Amino acid sequence: MARLLSILDPDTLTLAVDALRRGEAVAVPTETVYGLAADATNPAAITAIYEAKGRPRFNPLISHVSDLAMAEQHVAVSPLAEKLAEAFWPGALTLVLPLRETGQIHPLATAGLPTAAVRMPQGFARELIAALGRPLAAPSANRSGRVSPTSAMHVDEDLGDRIGLILDGGRCRIGVESTIVAVDDGGLRLLRPGGVPVDAIEEVAGMAVTRHTALTGEAVIAPGMLVSHYAPDSPVRLNVSEVRPGETLIRFGGGVVPGEDRAAAILDLSPSGDLCEAAANLFDYLKRADVSGAAGIAVAPVPGHGLGEAINDRLSRAAAPRDTA
Ligand code: TXA
Ligand code: MG
Repeated sequence: MARLLSILDPDTLTLAVDALRRGEAVAVPTETVYGLAADATNPAAITAIYEAKGRPRFNPLISHVSDLAMAEQHVAVSPLAEKLAEAFWPGALTLVLPLRETGQIHPLATAGLPTAAVRMPQGFARELIAALGRPLAAPSANRSGRVSPTSAMHVDEDLGDRIGLILDGGRCRIGVESTIVAVDDGGLRLLRPGGVPVDAIEEVAGMAVTRHTALTGEAVIAPGMLVSHYAPDSPVRLNVSEVRPGETLIRFGGGVVPGEDRAAAILDLSPSGDLCEAAANLFDYLKRADVSGAAGIAVAPVPGHGLGEAINDRLSRAAAPRDTA
């Protein structure tokens, strides 16, 4: 079973750096979701991530850095990318940038692509990378295809018997994964909506971000955009206007949904209608709804602006037919 260590414990940083130097995969809290982190330059360490997650190896990982200089050692940071990094790092924005020939991110972390996804996380994760002195490859710390973890307990439930060390930093502040943007030919393409709203990126960049339409059948560019992802065991119905008997209701903004008196349970993502609070609760509520033994999960509409884009993206993946994954 995995050992759980609080990030508040003064020995934790050293113990985690030692484990990472030995090539182990360690679960680390970030402001978005918990990551399963390993040395991005060490092929055996990256393999440990894929094995623990049961993740297909054609699905590349995000490499996390502690500062812009570390990013620049491995990828080419264009002026536009640097502008975005300055505005949003450390934070929930991942940039897909061309690899440098002299960079050391291992091809196993990029699945052999000529680009790498790079992000600078906040807080303890960033300190850990600085202490290690190398980028950390870290996908979300869940079994492949499952809901991402936003607490150490979630990680333990999913991966506790497959990894050695889980660092406990409490609940993740943002609660959905980073926004992924590819920066190429002077343009920006959205590969995954996430913790930074797209309009905030457009404002800083002074240009539109092209939205990718994975859900309507275009080729998969970011394999994390595989349609069925974040899959709970129970069937999920979206945008419901009525609850069926025995379903667990997930709603937003405190509004009463017809039939909710027959629901097995009611979980309100944000009674006050705050999309940030809703994002922070989303994965925990999906997991809770899934274990409550309900007939299914009924989700009432959530607004699509700001963080609502990422919330609705994750909900549509949770509801997608499983045979497409
Ligand atoms: O918030 C987050 O982004 C979390 C925390 C731990 O940082 N990480 C995360 O990683 O969500 P993961 O592996 O679950 O998602 C990474 C996504 C995948 O959809 C992958 O396909 C995409 O990034 N990706 C990675 N490298 C890429 C590349 N070179 N080009 C396009 N997509 C890439
Ligand atoms: Mg993931």
